[in-house]
Amino acid sequence: MVVLGIETSCDDTGVGIVADGRILANEVASQTLLHARYGGVVPELASREHAAALDELVGRALAGAGLRAADLDLIAATRGPGLIGPLLVGLTYAKGLAWGLQKPFVGVHHLEGHIHGALAGGGAEPPFLVLIASGGHTHLYDVPAWGDYRLLGATRDDAAGEAFDKVARTLGLGYPGGPEIERLAAAGDDRAVPFSVPMKGRAGYDFSFSGLKTAAVRFASEGYAPADIAASFQRVVVASLVGTLERAAADLGRRRVVVAGGVAANRLLRRELAASGLEVYLPPLQLTSDNGAMIALAAARRWEREPRADPLSLSAAPYLPLGEEV
Ligand code: KG4
Ligand code: ZN
Repeated sequence: MVVLGIETSCDDTGVGIVADGRILANEVASQTLLHARYGGVVPELASREHAAALDELVGRALAGAGLRAADLDLIAATRGPGLIGPLLVGLTYAKGLAWGLQKPFVGVHHLEGHIHGALAGGGAEPPFLVLIASGGHTHLYDVPAWGDYRLLGATRDDAAGEAFDKVARTLGLGYPGGPEIERLAAAGDDRAVPFSVPMKGRAGYDFSFSGLKTAAVRFASEGYAPADIAASFQRVVVASLVGTLERAAADLGRRRVVVAGGVAANRLLRRELAASGLEVYLPPLQLTSDNGAMIALAAARRWEREPRADPLSLSAAPYLPLGEEV
């Protein structure tokens, strides 16, 4: 079973090819530089770039995998959530390709893609907890069985990655902020700046990160060293994510956890998860940020469980809660 996956929900164009759980190609065209000067993703520019990049990326992925388009068995694309224009570009391309090749098409939930990216190194079966921490999401789910996603908690304001991006901006660092903060934090004292761990001691499993951004602005104006701010900020974000995950695991009697999304690249987060005693599944580094291989992996698993194509009338869904597909 050879599956092509297309991801265009935000600012990375991703095309991946997988066969029998193996990744044969994973081409990503990043738009980071294009959007950097605007301080955020400009949806119309993102759509244009996706449209311009897709054909060549598909060609490169096929060539890298040593395949022809006719060898593809299933065509998948991210259906949502994400930016409507970018989603439509990838989804429409995938439908056109499927129609032209007379192959089945499936629309994939972006977060289900991230989950399967995290499981690429070694499959795990539910029950498990899933923590998605990216630029747009900080969501914690209990997954008792495939397809059964129970939202335990989510951010009440900014996503974890968004907080990294905003604090990086405050410190005059580049975008995306996560890797920049991580680099600067290595030279800082993670106890030097008195950030507190958000939501600590509260019931439930929600997150909140916007207070940290406000605090970072204040600490910067009070003259704390940028490296100390970066290190201390990173420490409390990771403590919030790992602490909440550990508490949910204990409360629900789960030991297996899947952590995904761009923030899953963070090394402190990976260290703290490794030290937590939980059975942790993390994406390989090249699959932490948005990519097509994770969409192909998710589509392949879904097809194994239930070989049912989506109609070519399937709509893009900018707002699409996991587990509530309509
Ligand atoms: O999943 P992703 O590539 O895109 C979506 O938002 O869907 O996540 C991007 C986010 C950005 O906010 C970026 O700053 C963050 O992930 N990120 C990191 C690291 N690498 C990327 N955050 C913390 N540490 C990192 N090493
Ligand atoms: Zn993502």
